[in-house]
Amino acid sequence: MKILVTGGLGYIGSHTVVALINQGYEVVIIDNLSNSSIEVLEGITAITNKTPEFHKIDLREKNTVAQFFDQHKDIKGIIHFAASKAVGESVEKPLLYYENNISSLVYLLQEMKKRNLSNFIFSSSCTVYGQADELPITENAPVKKAESPYGNTKLIGENMIEDFCQSQKEFKAISLRYFNPIGAHSSAKIGELPIGTPQNLVPFITQTAIGKRKELSVFGDDYNTPDGTCIRDYIHVMDLAEAHVRALERLLKAETKNNYEVFNLGTGSGSSVMEIIKTFEKVTAQKLPYKIAGRRAGDITAAFADTQKANEILGWKSKRSLEEALSSAWNWEINVNKN
Ligand code: NAD
Ligand code: WQD
Repeated sequence: MKILVTGGLGYIGSHTVVALINQGYEVVIIDNLSNSSIEVLEGITAITNKTPEFHKIDLREKNTVAQFFDQHKDIKGIIHFAASKAVGESVEKPLLYYENNISSLVYLLQEMKKRNLSNFIFSSSCTVYGQADELPITENAPVKKAESPYGNTKLIGENMIEDFCQSQKEFKAISLRYFNPIGAHSSAKIGELPIGTPQNLVPFITQTAIGKRKELSVFGDDYNTPDGTCIRDYIHVMDLAEAHVRALERLLKAETKNNYEVFNLGTGSGSSVMEIIKTFEKVTAQKLPYKIAGRRAGDITAAFADTQKANEILGWKSKRSLEEALSSAWNWEINVNKN
C-alpha cells in the first residue's frame, strides 16, 4: 500500500519512513531539502534495504503538487511532516512560516479533496497547550494563544483540518501532538541534523560533548520545579515514528469514531534539564560542560503528556527509555562526525 510522506527526509519523517517500510508499506517521499539532505535517503536504504521513491518538490508550488498527484493515483494515505519548525526564526520571519506551513497544507488538502483521497496525519505539537494549567496534559486541556508564529501555524493547521473534516464527512484525519522528540535510530544511520547552532536541548548537548560547542547554557534554574530547571516529556523518535504507523492503520481500517481525532504523543513522564544532563553523562560516560544562564524568552516551566488516550484508543505506548534515547543521540553524533 502506497503512503506519501511529506518532509520524509527530515528528522521525524525519516524515522517514520523506516517504521512504515518495516511494516510493509510502500513509501513515496516529497521533500524540498530545505532542512534535510539527500544523504538521508542512503541512511534509510542502509537500514531497510529499500529505497523509497523520492521527489524533490516544494509543497508551496501548487501546480507541481497537482502534477505529482496526477502521476500518483494510488496513494492511500498521507503523513504530513513538511514544515518550518524553528521557533525563534518564526518570530523574525512570520510570513515565511505562515506561507510554508499553511499554504502547503491548504494545497495538499485541496488535492486530496479533488481526488477523493482520505487518511491524513498532521504533525502537531504540544506547543498548542502553552503552559497548561494542569499536569499531565490531556487532549482536553484548552489550547492557548500561541507564543510564536510557528506555534500559531500548528494551531491554525489543526483548526483548518478540523473544519475541513466537518465539511467532508468521508475525509478522515488525525493530528498528533508531539512532546519533545529526541534520539536516533539504533543503527545511527539516521538522526537529527540541525542546521547551524541547535536550538533544542539534546542536539546542543551532543554537539557540546563532542567538542563542537564550548558549553551548554542551562536556561534558568529558578523555575518552580524540584531542581529549578524546566521539565519536558522527552520521547524517543522511533517510538514517535511507530505511533504514526499505528495512527495510519487506525485511519486505513476505519477504526475512527469521528473523522477527526487528536492524540498526544509523549512518554507520560517529565524530566528536568538537569536530569537530562545527568542521565546523558551517565549513559555516555562523557563530562558535559555547562553553565547556568538566564531564562530563555517564551519557555514554559513544565509540560508532560497524559498518554491515556493514545494508550487506550490508538493502542500505542512509548517503549524506549530516556537512557536509550540519549545514548542513541550520542551514537548518532559520533557517526555524523566520522564523515
Ligand atoms: P525537519 O525540519 O527535520 O523536517 C521537515 C522536513 O520538511 C525537512 O526535511 C524539510 O526539508 C521539509 N520541508 C519543509 N518545508 C517544505 C516544503 N515547503 N516542501 C517540501 N518539503 C519541505 O523537522 P522535524 O523535526 O522532522 O519535524 C517534522 C514535523 O513535526 C514538523 O511539522 C514540525 O513542526 C513537527 N514537530 C516537530 C517537533 C520537534 O521537536 N522536532 C515537535 C513537534 C512538532
Ligand atoms: C527543552 C528544555 C529549554 C536548549 C521546542 C519548541 C516546541 C516543540 C519542541 C515543535 C527547555 C532547555 C534548551 C539549551 C537549555 N517543537 N534548554 N539550553 O522548548 O520544550 O520546545 O521543541 O513543535 O514548539 O518550542 O524544547 O529542546 O528547545 O528545550 O537549557 O541550549 O531545554 O529551556 O527547558 P522546547 P527545547
